[in-house]
Amino acid sequence: MTPPPTGSTSSRIGRSLPVTVRAAAKINLHLGVGAPREDGFHPLTTVYQAIGLCDDVTATRHGDGDGGGDRSLQVVVGGSDWIDLDGVPTDEHNLAHAAAIALGRLHGRELVGRLDIEKAIPVAGGLAGGSADAAAALVALDRAFDLDTSDDDLLHIAAELGSDVPFALIGGTALGTGRGELVESVADVGTWWWVLVPDRAGLSTPEVYRHFDKLFPDAPAEPPEADLLLGALRTGQPVSLARTLHNDLQEAAVDLRPELGALISRGESEGALRGLVSGSGPTCVFLCESADHARDLAGALLRSGHDNVLVANGAVAGAHLVKDHA
Ligand code: C5P
Repeated sequence: MTPPPTGSTSSRIGRSLPVTVRAAAKINLHLGVGAPREDGFHPLTTVYQAIGLCDDVTATRHGDGDGGGDRSLQVVVGGSDWIDLDGVPTDEHNLAHAAAIALGRLHGRELVGRLDIEKAIPVAGGLAGGSADAAAALVALDRAFDLDTSDDDLLHIAAELGSDVPFALIGGTALGTGRGELVESVADVGTWWWVLVPDRAGLSTPEVYRHFDKLFPDAPAEPPEADLLLGALRTGQPVSLARTLHNDLQEAAVDLRPELGALISRGESEGALRGLVSGSGPTCVFLCESADHARDLAGALLRSGHDNVLVANGAVAGAHLVKDHA
C-alpha cells in the first residue's frame, strides 16, 4: 500500500479542505434468514438494492499546523427535521466515528479533524443509514487524509464495522451472504420505483432478530435462496419482481409493531404491486410500476394520514465523491 504523503505545503493546504461523500439507503429485496450461528449472528442470503435516499458525510482534516485546534475527531450531525437526530450518537458509537478510528488504525495514525453528517436516511429505520454514514466516512476520510487505502482494505474495515457497511460501499444491487457482509454485484436491468413510509419510532435490529428466533426456533441452518428474485431482476419487469420480494424478518417486525401490517395492506389496496418491511423495519416499502405510479401512491398514503411518505428509485451508486473542495 502507498504510504501517506509526507506533506508538501501544497498537499497540506489542499487536503485541509473538506471532502463530501454521498452514500445511499438500502432496502432488502430478498432477506433470507437462517438459524443463529455460534457467534450469535444469523446467516443471510440477501439481495440489497441502494436507493436514491442519501446521507452526505463531509470530512475535514485538521492538523499539520493548520490551526485545527483539538487533537481528536469531532462528529457533528444535522439533517431533515423529521429525522430523530437525538437518536444519533456522536462518540465512537456512531459508526462513522468508528470508521475513522478503524481507518486511522490501519494507517497507524490518528485522524484529527471533523466529520459533518447530513442525514436524510431515517435513523433505526431498517434502511442502513448508520452503515451508509460509515461507508461515506471511510471514502471521505481516505481522500481528505490522502491515505490511498486499497478497495480490499476498505471492504475489510467495512465488514468489521457492520454487516451492511460493505454493501453501502459498493451500492447498486448486490447479493449478500455470510452475515450480509460478503457482497457481489448482480445483474439488474430495471429502474425500480419505490414508495417509502418511515416510522418516527425506530426499531432495534437485535430486538427484531431476537424475536425472529422466538417465533422460528426451528429456522433452517441455511437461509432460503434468492434465485427467483435474481431471475426477476433480469427481466426488468416490476410485476415479476413484485412476485418474488421476500423478507423473513417481516413477521417478527409486524408482530412487534402490528400497525406495520395494516400499513402494508393499505399500500397494496391503494395499488402498490407489493408492500414489505425493509430489513428489520420499521420502514415499509412499496414497489410501483413507474415514477408516476409511485407519486400517485405516495399521494394516496399521505391523504390516508401518513405524514412522511417518500419516493425513491433504485439502483443507485454506492459511496461516492460529490464534492472535493480542494
Ligand atoms: O452487523 P450489525 O452490527 O449491523 O448487526 C447489528 C445486530 O443485528 C447484531 O448485533 C445482531 O444482533 C443482529 N444481526 C444478526 N445477524 C445478522 C446481522 C445482524 O443477528 N446477519
